Order: sequence, then structure tokens, then C-alpha cells
Amino acid sequence: MQRNGGGVGASGQPWVLRRVRLTWLSFMLFFILVFFPLIAHYYLTTIDEAGGPDKRIFGPRPGGELCEAKHVQDLCRIRESVSEELLQLEAKRQELNGEIARLNLRIEACKRSIDSAKQDLLQLKNVISQTEHSYKELMAQNQPKLSLPVRLLPDKDDPGLPPPKSARACRLRSCFDYARCPLTSGFPVYVYDTGSYSWGEYIDPLVKQAFVASVKSNIYITDNPSIACLYVVLVGELQEFPSSPLPSPAELEKQLKALPYWRSDGHNHLLVHLSRKSLTQNFLYNVSTGRAAMAQSTFLEQQYREGFDLVVSPLVHALSEPNFLEVPPQVPVKRKYLFTFQGERVESLRSSLQESPPQSFEEEMEGDPPADYDDRIIGTLKAVQDSHLDQVLVEFTCKNPQPSLATEWALCGEREDRLEVLKASTFALVISPGDGQLVASAGCGMRLFEALEVGAIPVVLGDHSRLPYHQHIRWSEAAILVPKARITELHFLLRSLSDNDLLAMRRQGRFLWETYFSTSENVLNTILASIRTSIQVPAAPIREEPAQEIPHKAGKLAGTDANLADNGDLDLGPVETEPPYASPRFLRNFTYTAADTYRTWNRAPGPFHLFPHTPLDPVLPSEAKFLGSGTGFRPIGGGTGGSGKEFQAALGGNVPREQFTVVMLTYEREEVLMNSLERLNGLPYLNKVVVVWNSPKPPSDDLLWPDIGLPIVVVRTEKNSLNNRFLPWDAVETEAILSIDDDAHLRHDEIMFGFRVWREARDRIVGFPGRFHAWDVNHQSWLYNSNYSCELSMVLTGAAFFHKYYAYLYSYVMPQAIRDMVDEYINCEDIAMNFLVSHITRKPPIKVTSRWTFRCPGCPQALSHDDSHFHERHKCINFFVKVYGYMPLLYTQFRVDSVLFKTRLPHDKTKCFKFI
Ligand SMILES: *[C@@H]1O[C@H](CO)[C@@H](O)[C@H](O)[C@H]1NC(C)=O
Ligand SMILES: *[C@@H]1O[C@H](CO)[C@@H](O)[C@H](O)[C@H]1NC(C)=O
Ligand SMILES: *[C@@H]1O[C@H](CO)[C@@H](O)[C@H](O)[C@H]1NC(C)=O
Repeated sequence: MQRNGGGVGASGQPWVLRRVRLTWLSFMLFFILVFFPLIAHYYLTTIDEAGGPDKRIFGPRPGGELCEAKHVQDLCRIRESVSEELLQLEAKRQELNGEIARLNLRIEACKRSIDSAKQDLLQLKNVISQTEHSYKELMAQNQPKLSLPVRLLPDKDDPGLPPPKSARACRLRSCFDYARCPLTSGFPVYVYDTGSYSWGEYIDPLVKQAFVASVKSNIYITDNPSIACLYVVLVGELQEFPSSPLPSPAELEKQLKALPYWRSDGHNHLLVHLSRKSLTQNFLYNVSTGRAAMAQSTFLEQQYREGFDLVVSPLVHALSEPNFLEVPPQVPVKRKYLFTFQGERVESLRSSLQESPPQSFEEEMEGDPPADYDDRIIGTLKAVQDSHLDQVLVEFTCKNPQPSLATEWALCGEREDRLEVLKASTFALVISPGDGQLVASAGCGMRLFEALEVGAIPVVLGDHSRLPYHQHIRWSEAAILVPKARITELHFLLRSLSDNDLLAMRRQGRFLWETYFSTSENVLNTILASIRTSIQVPAAPIREEPAQEIPHKAGKLAGTDANLADNGDLDLGPVETEPPYASPRFLRNFTYTAADTYRTWNRAPGPFHLFPHTPLDPVLPSEAKFLGSGTGFRPIGGGTGGSGKEFQAALGGNVPREQFTVVMLTYEREEVLMNSLERLNGLPYLNKVVVVWNSPKPPSDDLLWPDIGLPIVVVRTEKNSLNNRFLPWDAVETEAILSIDDDAHLRHDEIMFGFRVWREARDRIVGFPGRFHAWDVNHQSWLYNSNYSCELSMVLTGAAFFHKYYAYLYSYVMPQAIRDMVDEYINCEDIAMNFLVSHITRKPPIKVTSRWTFRCPGCPQALSHDDSHFHERHKCINFFVKVYGYMPLLYTQFRVDSVLFKTRLPHDKTKCFKFI
């Protein structure tokens, strides 16, 4: 009754009534017992003495005084006996009251035990349903396992397929031997040594050197030609010496056929011709390459086999690494010139046609001259320039045009001068060659890449052009492709695009350039990835960081910290009932090459790695967890929903059950660390704790580590680096990582809530203390700010959830310059992580709960409060902006609380969390 807190509960009323009734009963009893004998006695004695009822009428009798005294005595006696009786009754009443109180207590106790039994039952039910789930999952996994597809070993003598009638008809289906490349083969590539064929001597030494270096660092390369799926031959670009003329195409053909694995028709061979100059020979045109595919920058239409040959980018940076810091910033969006074009035509199309029309060309066109738009283009662009409506720069003659193919617009001047002009251009025009048969040319390729490199948005005039890797790269996201016939509408079109779209295109262009074209390694990677994607073989899995464990003694039994584990009456989730559960890995091996190639090629980080899991997997509709795809889900209340109690018993949400791993970076603070670890005791859904021991000094021998009922893995690091916090340790077996500092104080309910929120925003950083980037008006630069603010753009990774995917990206994909800066300042790794995630997702982080700081109030001040720390963080921000070319961070103005937080609830309902 006490628990009802004064409310007149339904169970309270009968007890009050009963108490009233008892009082009434005892009064009646008292009346009967006391007054009835008195009256009876008096009556009886009167009859006795008078001899009859009417005697009294005759006046007082003799001896009345004596009689009176006796009467009083009698009365006294009666009174005594009555009061004695009363005392006895009182005692009895008290006894009964005592009994009642005892019974009440027992009822209370019974009620309590019912409650706890109910709780136990709920727990048991959970265990049963967990076990049932696990059983079902086991059964589901036990469905007849498909063995790996039969690995077809190609027959040495039998080329398998009948060769197509002409090499021109070659497609993957008719010319490629899939038997050499099983889906699970891992795509082994054999590269011929350029010294093994005499043609190799003529190859430009710089191209050769860059190629050889790239081959060395490529993981698909195998030394064993008998297992290879693809055979790569570097055939160009050739260097002409006046002393020794180039060998003839027939000579090359002979040498190709003599290659040891050519196997009569060159199937599964790729002839790679990398151009460094804008004038590049198209010598393969006159070579019969059999069933080998070609990868080069220049193709004539009659030569190019769609879906089989590859248009590749020219090799702009053969050996030098491009310096990302020299790339101009992406903002302001609009630059000095709306568009620019500089070029010179060596020969007009008409004159080239008169001299030597390509054979097939004449046949197809039946003598009709093709529309030559070049004159119209020149006229229109000049008119735009003269109108001064926008500042544009067009030049159709130049001082020193670079050698180029006839009919192509030659590049003007030196690369550096061209880049200077492009840096001032919003758009860069790329006019495809007048010869419509030239579907790709090295000259146009160079224009395209020089534009992308400095953030000028390419406008390709001539929609017949085949841009590099167009099967996979969606160029319309980074460049504007217009038919030449629209030249008069071009100015209007370019002016109509919004800044938002322009910046998105510029950003995408930067991504494409950086990922596919910027270095010779990228160029080779991309060529191989393109073939690999076309034949649907998955990429090699990304590297995990092998965790070298430091052995340690567990022993200290961890208690529970009452202050930190408090969530009112609620359990936060199944602790002992849930076995460790690692996130499933590699469920989408073939998704990236067989289904989702668009995303793999057009979104960071590109197609080069296979990730065990990503935060971007599509979610199932809700009914799927009940009908058909039900393994692994833990719907709340079994699907019926519910408030606090049911909520805490199941994970719910839109994704199957999972656990998280705590990754804790520590540096020589053993006691702080031990306390921190102890506080993790009893945390539901915790899979494992990985302690990153960031010191060369091992932990002291006599240190007793708390036993929290879970593995604590202590990993050795090579050097003291804050980047170690984000290494993708193989010991981390869950998708969710909770990164916490060794001195971070978080309550269990806060952690649980953070985990649940992260599960719904798996691509974001979800954490507690917020920070933001502020514009310094005086210095026109960014400042790091930790003041209380209604807007935030970063969440400190000293207490935050993120997906392991970002650990791979941080360690292996993010530009090295950023990690170097983190090491130099021993600071800013959290800023770097926020930059990375916002760059990839274009979303701000998510802040949960009202907490703004996560360190314990009484702890010694962390270093994050002195001035130099802040100063460094300002510097980091501005440096990172330079590396990315723009400020990736985005502001957010809301934080997340649990659903029933601050909602008034009826008595029979409980909140999801008591305090958050
Ligand atoms: C192919 O050979 C013919 C005849 O030798 C020559 O005229 C032509 O220019 C060559 N084509 C290319 C693209 O090299
Ligand atoms: C997917 O790839 C990973 C890594 O290469 C491999 O371990 C796993 O067995 C593959 N799964 C399937 C179904 O092929
Ligand atoms: C934070 O706020 C205080 C007082 O409003 C101000 O003096 C200080 O400069 C602010 N700090 C930063 C980093 O902006």
C-alpha cells in the first residue's frame, strides 16, 4: 500500500472498511459483555429481595442501608471483573491487530515475490526466445551449404570457344575465357616482363618505370602464369628515336603471337597502352590482336569494341605524386571565368577528309560529309566572349600548340600555364575532335584530367565521346556532356546551374581524379578493377590490423558501480543471458560487382576493396522480420511493441541483433584504466573490450585486471600514435565500435542509448560531447570551438560510436597527410575522423543526451584545456580543409533523447530510460 504513494488504490479500500467494521464489532462486544451482566444482575437481585415485581411499590424495606452498601460492593466487584475483562479484551484486540499487521506484511512480501517471480519469468522467457532464435538461426545456417563452384581449370590445348568471325566482333561473352576466372579465384593477374619481348625496348622509359613500380605494389599480381585469370602486356607508349625506326605493326603482331601464354589467339590478354603525350600513336589499329582486349586512350570507332576494350586515362603523373595541397580550394564555386578554352586545330576536318578519308568511314557515310560543327563552335564562343555578359576566355590559336592528332584540338603551351588558366575557370571546355570517328583521344583525355585536377568542371562537347571507364563511372555527375549541335545553347545551360550542383560536380570530379587517375598506381588499379568488375569477381578483402596481444592477469572481481549503472528500476538489457555474438562478415561479396556497381564506382572509397561490412547496406521492410527473413531480429515485445520493460528486454529497431566492442586508447595510466574497465562490468550487448596500449612500456607485471565476464584484449602498438585508436583491429568482431578515452565517464544507460541510436544511424558518428567549427572573420579561416553552443558539427571520439568501416577508411584510404599531422601534433585524431565521416556521408554527426563533457568532474584536468592544445586544433582544421579542398563538416542543431523522455505516463507504463 505504501508503494501506491497515498493513492486510494483498488486494493486499499477493503482494508479501511474492515478496520471500521472491527471497531464496531468490538464496541458491540464491549456493550454486551459489560452492560448486559450489569442490567441482568440488578434485575435478578431486585426480584430476589422483593419477592415480586410489585414489592417496591410498598416503600423501603427494613435494613435498606446495609443492603445499599452490599449493593455498591457488588457493583464494585462487577466493575472490577468487567474492567479485568476489558483489559483482557484490549489485549486480545491488540493481539489481533498485531496478527493483522503481520498478515499485511506477509501479503506485501508475497506481492514482492510475485513481482520478482514475474521478472524472473520475463528473463527466462527472454532466455528461451534467445535460445529459440539462436536455434532457428542455426537451422537456417544449416541449410544445405552450396559448395564452391567447380573450379574449371582451362585446358591448355583447347581454347574452348570457337573464335568469332572477326576480332572486331569480340565481346567478353565470345572472346573471354571465364573458366580462367572463377568467382572465388581472387582475380590473379600475370604481367609479362617488358624485357621478355623485344618490342619492350621501344616503350617510353618513364611509362615503363611507372608501370613496373605500380605492378610491384598491386595485390592481384601473381608470378604463376598457370593460374592467372588475366595476362597483361605493356605495349606503349613508344618512344621514337631517329636512329632506330619503330618496328612495324606486323612485327608487333609476330611478337604478340610469340608470347608464352598467348595460346594462339590471345584470349584473356590485355594490351595496355599508356599515353603520356597528347599525340599518341594508335599503332594497335593496324595490329591483329586476336581475342586480346586493348586498353588505351585513343580509339577509332571502327576499332573500339564496346564492353571489351577499355578507354583509359593518360598517365599524367607518371612517377611524381600529385600534391593535394596545391590543388585550389573548391570554394568559391564561381571563378573568374565562367568557361575557358584554349586550343588550335592542326588541320580542319575537311582538309583531312580530302587527303585520306578512313576507309570504313567513306563506306558508312556514303560520301555525305559529316556536319563539321567546329566553325559554328568557334563563332558562337567568340560571340559569347565579345558580349561581355560573362567573363570567358576562348583562344583558337596559340603560341606553341602541342603535337596532336590531325582533326584534334591541340593543347596550348606548357602544362603549368594551362593549369593556371583552369584554376581560374568554373568550366573547362573539352571539344572532341572534328573527326567523329575518333571516339576517344589522348589529347581530350588530358584536357579532361587537367580540368578535374584543379576543379574546373569539364564540359565535353561531342556526345559521341567515350570517356574513360564509362561502363562504370557515371560521368554526368562530374562533367557536362553536350552534343555539339547544342553549342548555341551552351552559355545559357552553363549559367543555369546552381552553386550547389556545381560544387557537387566539382567534388565528384575531385573524387574521380583522386581515386582513378592521379597516380600511376591508381591508373593500373583502375584498369584491373574495370575488368574485374566486368567479369563480376569481387575485390580483395581490405586489410585488418593484426592485434598482437599483451598477456595480462585477470583476477580482481569487478563490482558494479551503483552511481554509474543506475537506470531506476529497469534492467538495461540481457547481460548474462546473451552469448558473445560477432557481426556476420562478407555477406555481400558479390553485391559490389554483380548488383551495386554504380555505388562502388561512383562513391568513395571506390571499387578497390572488399569490406566485411559497410554501414550502407539496405534495410529490410519491417514485415520481413516476421515473414521470411526473420533470423536475427529482436523485435520489441516480440513485435507487439511496449514501453520501458519490453524495450529494455530487446534491441528492436530495423536491423538484426548485434553487439558492440569498446576500443579504449590508453597511455601509462594504469589505475585510471583499471577503474574505467571496472565500470564496464555488467554492460549489456558488450562483445569485447580492446585496450590499445599506446606505450612502449608494457603494463606492470603485478597489475590485476578486473574480471568483467568478457574478454579484455590488450593490443601492442608499434609506436605511440593517436591514429592507433582507429586502426581496424582484427580483434574487433562487431560492426559497432564504442571508442572511449581511458578517463571517460559514461553511465551504462547513456552507453546503451548511444548504441541504440547508432543502430539507426549506422553511417554517422554518434556520441556525447559536441564541438563545432567557427569562422574567424578577422583571419578568414576556421577555428575549433568547444563552448556551449546551439549548433555543433563534431562529436568527440573520446566517447562515440562509429562503424568499423570508418576505421578501415581512416587507416588505409584517407590521405596520409592527415595521419601525419595527427602524429606531428599528437592531437586532432577526433577532428580527422569527423572530417572523414562528414566528407563521405555529407551528414553531420549525431549528439545524444544532454551531456557536454564526458570526463569525471573530480579528475585532474585533461590536457585539452590548455591554450596550445586549442591552438593546434585550429591549425589542424585549416590543414584538413586544405587537404579535402573544402570544409566537409556540417552543422546540426538537434540532439537525440529517448522516445518517452519527459512524457507523462500512466502508472502501469515505464519510460524507455529513466534519465535520458
Ligand atoms: C594503318 O595502316 C595503314 C596502311 O599502312 C596506314 O595508312 C594507316 O595510317 C594506319 N592506321 C593507323 C591508325 O595507324
Ligand atoms: C567473401 O569474401 C571473403 C573474403 O575474401 C571470404 O572469406 C568469404 O568466404 C567470401 N564469401 C563468399 C560467400 O564467397
Ligand atoms: C567561449 O566563450 C567565452 C565567453 O563567452 C569566450 O571568452 C571565449 O573566447 C569562447 N571560446 C572560444 C574558443 O570561442
